[in-house]
Amino acid sequence: MNMLELIEKKRDGGVLGKEEIEFFVKGVTEKTIPDYQISAFLMAVLFKGMDDQETTDLTIAMSESGKICDLSDIPGIKVDKHSTGGVGDKVTPILLPIVASFGIPCVKLSGRGLGFTGGTIDKFESIDGFCTSVDPSEFKSKIEKCGMLLGGQTSDLAPCDKYLYALRDVTGTVPSIPLIASSIMSKKIAGGSDAIVLDITCGSGAFMKDPDSARELARRMISIGKLAGKPVTCVMTSMEQPLGIMVGNILEMQEVVSVLTGNGSDEVKKVVLTMASEMLKMTPVGKDLDSETLMAMCEEKLKNGEAFEKFGELILSQGGMLQSDGSPVFVDRPCEVMTVYAECSGYISKCDALMVGEASCLLGAGRMEKDDVIDMGAGIRLYKKIGDKVSRGEELFSLYTGTKNPVGDDRIDEALFKMQDAYEISDQAPAKPKEILEVIS
Ligand code: URA
Repeated sequence: MNMLELIEKKRDGGVLGKEEIEFFVKGVTEKTIPDYQISAFLMAVLFKGMDDQETTDLTIAMSESGKICDLSDIPGIKVDKHSTGGVGDKVTPILLPIVASFGIPCVKLSGRGLGFTGGTIDKFESIDGFCTSVDPSEFKSKIEKCGMLLGGQTSDLAPCDKYLYALRDVTGTVPSIPLIASSIMSKKIAGGSDAIVLDITCGSGAFMKDPDSARELARRMISIGKLAGKPVTCVMTSMEQPLGIMVGNILEMQEVVSVLTGNGSDEVKKVVLTMASEMLKMTPVGKDLDSETLMAMCEEKLKNGEAFEKFGELILSQGGMLQSDGSPVFVDRPCEVMTVYAECSGYISKCDALMVGEASCLLGAGRMEKDDVIDMGAGIRLYKKIGDKVSRGEELFSLYTGTKNPVGDDRIDEALFKMQDAYEISDQAPAKPKEILEVIS
């Protein structure tokens, strides 16, 4: 077998066998295949696709390219959650404490943000002292302590995916459904949980721009889960506009605290409660209950303060600091740079998630390059969302940087122009986008 034959076979629309895929994954992991051949292969997959069996074979081979977490000594069904990424996506820090407060062990391995999408690890690292590098040998003790843990994906977990993802990022081969499906599912399988709930974001600020592609991605991941023996539920959510009102690390964690203390936007709550109820359905707690009942039970955990208490336990368990009111101590403080006001009256008809994400990144809240240092205090506050009525002179959005203000005025101007393009005001009231587009299991 040689790599050139595999590239040519895929280029001509052929179907690869398990051994051919294993040969490719082994060569990537052991660095015996040069980057130019890997890149050519990825481009051939982007154009010619992969069927369900090829995608599953790729997923399993990638998940076995490193360590597989063994969570079997943690009692109970372990349910994992993952999002395909978005702007203002602060679901995990609210969801985990809710689910853990039902006694369901949650082991969540998350990633860092790259480009316009934020990363959960970065958000937690905006809390002073919070440590996200948790060795698998500590998983059990952390779960015993507070019922959940939040860790970064270690380099020995699906290392083949790590290498491929970095190459895809610089070769224009990220938006391939089989490559996205296998990338996400290989890490979820290696993470060792028993069942998986996926948030498939759809819209301008997501990888999947339209519902048909999102549905196809969901179908692929459910099919991989079936063949790998792990039940998968996909919740398709809208990413036409950012989720909630804050974008940026500390700003989003402030919104998290607001939701956990019984406030916060209905939009964020709707996504969190839907995801939480789907996770509970996969466990003995919720398997015989309908979504409405489960969502009401989860909402009660927000109202009665149990979820907020659990959130504090998670922070303390991983070395983070809390204030006397139970909210986190952050590593910096967001400072408002400017607020922009509406120039005319009407209804918000566009609040483009991609542009808001890019503007936030320009302010320093995200990484342009893998090794960029994030400004934890940077980001954007949105006062108006799609469908909201607005009067001339009312606040539209504010830009923030941290106290160290590492970005120059040029970047702030660029972010401002992007934000001005992100918003549109029209005379007609548009329908408010639905947060949940579909649940597929
Ligand atoms: N997230 C991943 O982990 N992989 C992808 O390919 C896309 C999103």
